[in-house]
Amino acid sequence: MNRKAVMLSGIKPTNFLTLGNSIGAIKSWLNLFETYDPIFMVVDLHSLTVPQDPEKLREATYRSLAVYVAAGLDPKRCLLFVQSQVPEHAQLSWIMNCMATMGELNRMTQFKDKSERAGSHIPAGLFTYPVLMAADILLYQANWVPVGADQKQHIELTRDLAIRMNNRFTPQEGPEAGATPKKPLFTIPEPYIPPVGARIMDLQEPTNKMGKSDSSENGAVYLFDSDKDIERKLKRAVTDSGTEIAFSDDKPGIQNLLTIQAALTGKKPQDLVAAYAGKQYGHLKVDTAEIVVQAIRPVRDEAERLLKDRGELDRILAEGARRASERAAPTLRRVYDALGFALPRA
Ligand code: TYM
Repeated sequence: MNRKAVMLSGIKPTNFLTLGNSIGAIKSWLNLFETYDPIFMVVDLHSLTVPQDPEKLREATYRSLAVYVAAGLDPKRCLLFVQSQVPEHAQLSWIMNCMATMGELNRMTQFKDKSERAGSHIPAGLFTYPVLMAADILLYQANWVPVGADQKQHIELTRDLAIRMNNRFTPQEGPEAGATPKKPLFTIPEPYIPPVGARIMDLQEPTNKMGKSDSSENGAVYLFDSDKDIERKLKRAVTDSGTEIAFSDDKPGIQNLLTIQAALTGKKPQDLVAAYAGKQYGHLKVDTAEIVVQAIRPVRDEAERLLKDRGELDRILAEGARRASERAAPTLRRVYDALGFALPRA
């Protein structure tokens, strides 16, 4: 049988998800979902890299799961789970921690940005977080990891760590391996970065990324925002000096609105520019607001409906955790074996 390649990704529930998460990540997940063996996580362990209020974290976790399902990631057709419920992630993460070097982690640009903002209390987890991400990916032998542009460097690190471990350690195969040749410990994953919308910018500061927890209230559109809030935020989006609607780096505000429209409609940014010839910034803002409302409304309304039945979400979580652990355990066992941990042979 021809096994489908594995596609895996996740989002941190540090807050409610944003339009950036939807365009940069969930949209690609939906596009690729049928072609691959899909695995999607709510990566709550990663959330602790910034201080969390426990009740808000729990709420954001349920809301993330509800958004995944509402957006079309049917738990019967993909593996959906919450990371903290699958202990293999933390277990493999420790091992990856011992394989990655301080120098490598020091080069992560996201650490540099976030640690500058964290002031004098920088959690050690913010520094080591990319090794947990590597463990998330490698545990499932993922082939493709669809993410926004900001995660590319972390996937490159994951690849480096996987290649290093494959070269250093030979898997010991138990009798269950039979006559099959030895597989390397890990599949080397590839990032999948969408061609349009890999970096949606903050509406108030369009030279910064739209972030769940780093954007101002009006800078980010959240997937649980009301239609009115979405309209207000887009109509107040910071634009640029001048009047001409152009897709260019020296007009980051306009470029961002065009990118959002292009990603949500499938049109090419240059075709949109041609259609706006002679029109004003106001037209672009009003149209973008309408397109964003139309994209978010059905997902938000369905997610709200799902959130009324926590019992059903809990069933999805429990089933996902069981299936994820079943898939992750054989990789962890091979790694333990290859590293020389004494494992009783069953
Ligand atoms: P996180 O939670 O910051 O973001 C989740 C996903 O959304 C994308 N994204 C964006 N895309 C376009 N424009 C934006 N403004 C924008 N903001 C966020 C991110 O690129 C990402 O794809 N470390 C990861 C989560 C993670 C993960 C994994 C991902 C943990 N383990 C394993 C893939 C595989 C993170 O913090 O993403």
